Parts: sequence; structure tokens; C-alpha cells
Amino acid sequence: VPGSSLNDAFNAADFEALARDKLDEGAYGYFAGGAGDERTLRDNIDAYARTTLRPRVLVDVSGASAATTVLGADVSMPLLVAPVAFQRVAHPDGEPGTARAAAAAGTVMCLSTLATASAQEVAEAARGGPRWFQLYCFSDRGVTEALVDQAVDGGYQAIVLTVDAPLLGRRERDLRTGFAIPADLEVPSFSRAIGGRREATLQDMFKLLDQSLTWRDVEMLAEISDLPVVVKGVITSEDARLAVDHGAGAVVVSNHGGRQLDGVPATLDALPEVVDAVDGRVEVYVDGGVRRGTDVATAVALGARAALIGRPVIWALAAGGEEGVARLLGLLRDEVELALALLGCPSPDALGPEHVAAPNRHR
Ligand SMILES: Cc1cc2nc3c(=O)[nH]c(=O)nc-3n(C[C@H](O)[C@H](O)[C@H](O)COP(=O)(O)O)c2cc1C
Repeated sequence: VPGSSLNDAFNAADFEALARDKLDEGAYGYFAGGAGDERTLRDNIDAYARTTLRPRVLVDVSGASAATTVLGADVSMPLLVAPVAFQRVAHPDGEPGTARAAAAAGTVMCLSTLATASAQEVAEAARGGPRWFQLYCFSDRGVTEALVDQAVDGGYQAIVLTVDAPLLGRRERDLRTGFAIPADLEVPSFSRAIGGRREATLQDMFKLLDQSLTWRDVEMLAEISDLPVVVKGVITSEDARLAVDHGAGAVVVSNHGGRQLDGVPATLDALPEVVDAVDGRVEVYVDGGVRRGTDVATAVALGARAALIGRPVIWALAAGGEEGVARLLGLLRDEVELALALLGCPSPDALGPEHVAAPNRHR
């Protein structure tokens, strides 16, 4: 769109600046913030800045492509859209807009349980786009099973079980602003659980979730549908092994974008131990602090099949709705392709640990 400020955005940070101007303080703080002193939030980003790349030259990259597969499905790049709640707080296009932009970019959108659109509405918005459904288990098992059924009916290809949030992290920005979702912005899963609509904080919603989940529930979930269960929020080798042993179809190395337990390592630093523990048995993904195509290449080099991004998508959505997300994903795909070519890698599969020099890399 000529004259649109979107055309002035050339990277994730540019979109954040645009979004900050558009969002009120409560919404901005909710999307941007982390838990506690926000040490982990900052470290997720700093960890990428601590690594350096080791390119190889005079490799034929004339046919280079960022295309790869995740859980056997084709994607245009090893970068997926992470589940982020309440997207209509950022822009009226909300989750359907994000889903259309992700489908057009040829990548996976993972829909949050706490979305402001139903799984069906999002599926209809982005027919054909690869999509996953992120699950929070409600104490009311009927609600949880209904969510899984909707994901199956809507053609979602995986259930992403988030395991790092049995309770809500301490997010002081939200406590200060009193951030809440107004009753007129429907969160369908919450409406179903309470049998109506009302204004609610995230804490109100988390009170309805099941804090008693254990590894047995991963097995149970794997049995109630044919979809692979991707366990999101693993950052230790111990839990990575347990996830595989209990039937996980993949794991996401994630600390919830620094929003849950403050003081845990940056996900990039936790990635090698998880990759080693999983030992090729399932795919490993990573999220947290990914802002550049070179970050994606770094994560893949250290063993991730793909990376996911959370906040940048929200900044782009706030800045320009579906069109903003489409522009962001296009820019990032170009960045990934360029990074691969300049590293001397014709495809993501050509990346290996030898392409990264990191201070505390395991191999
Ligand atoms: C505003 C916000 C809401 C989120 N909501 C969810 C959610 O509903 N379910 C979930 O599993 N993760 C959620 N996450 C975590 C993201 O899926 C992802 O792990 C994280 O954003 C990645 O870090 P990044 O924002 O630095 O890219 C949320 C993150 C943010 C920033």
C-alpha cells in the first residue's frame, strides 16, 4: 500500500515501534512483558547476540531454498508462528488474519487455546494452511475434550500441549495496568468453560486450568486423537527424555517467551542439551527471542527443526493487521534465505553445529 507506514518497516524491531504507538499501555505491556525481573525475557534475545556464525564459501547456492518440513508437512521456511493469546486485542483481524498471512507465507500457524476466535473460524479463514492447535487443559475435562475435537474437525495437524504454565507467571506489568479482556471480546474457550461471557484477567482464566497434569496426561492426549502431541515448554534433558518416553510427537524448547519462571536459561542455551537428549527420535523446535533470519539459521544449526516467533507477529498484526503479518513473514523468509546462502547452505538441512561458534555450545 503506497504511503503506508508498513512499507517503512524492514524488520521485527520496526514493527514493534509501530505497534507501541498504536496499542494502549495495558495491551502493550501484556504483549511485551515477562515474568519477575524479566531476566529470561532479555536473555532469550541476548543469547543470539552471544553467538557468531561460521560461514563456508564457494558453495553453489544458486538453487538455495529455505523450504523444509515439520512433522512431515511442507513449509516454506523453518520459521513458524507461535501460539499467542488474545490477538484481537492487537488488531480486529485477530487470529483469522494471522492465520491467513501464515498460510499465504506457506508456514504453520499455531492457534492458542486462549484465542479470541474459535478453532473453526480460524480454519475457515485459512483453508489449506498448515495449522496446529495449542492446548491448555481445563479442569473440566469436557471442555478440554471439546477443544481437541474442534482441532481435529478443523484440520489442525498437531496438538501443542503447553507444559510450562501450571500456574500463571508473575507478570508485574499486567498487575500495574490491571490488564483484562473486556466481555465484548469473546474468548470462546473461556466462554464455554464458564457458560457465558464476562470481563476477565488472564489470572481468572488460569484458575480454570488443570494444575494436576503429569506425563500420564501426555499419553492420554496422544490416545484421544490421532494427532501428534507436541510438548511445548521443555528446557532440560531430563524432561526431553520423559517427553519422548511418554509419546510426544515433538518438543518445543520454550520458556514461554520469559513469561513464566524468571531465571531459567535462554532457550538457545537450553537447545543443545534437549537436542542431545532427544537424539533424533522426534523433531525439536525452539522459540523465544528469534528476531532475525540469522537467528533462525543459528537455531537450526544447533539442532532445531524449526523456530517459532511470538511477539514479532503481534507487533506486525497491531501495526497493519493481516497485511502487516504478511509483510513481516515475507521479510523474515527473505532473511532466512539470505542467511542460508551466505552461510554456504543450499537448504536448512545443510546447517550444522559447525556453522555456529557459541560460548557454551555442547558440541
Ligand atoms: C502475549 C503473549 C501471549 C502468549 N500466549 C500463549 C498461549 O496462549 N499459549 C502458549 O503456549 N504460549 C503463549 N505464549 C508464548 C509463545 O507461544 C512463545 O513461546 C513466545 O512468545 C516466544 O517468544 P518470543 O515472543 O520472544 O518470540 C504467549 C506469548 C506472548 C508474548
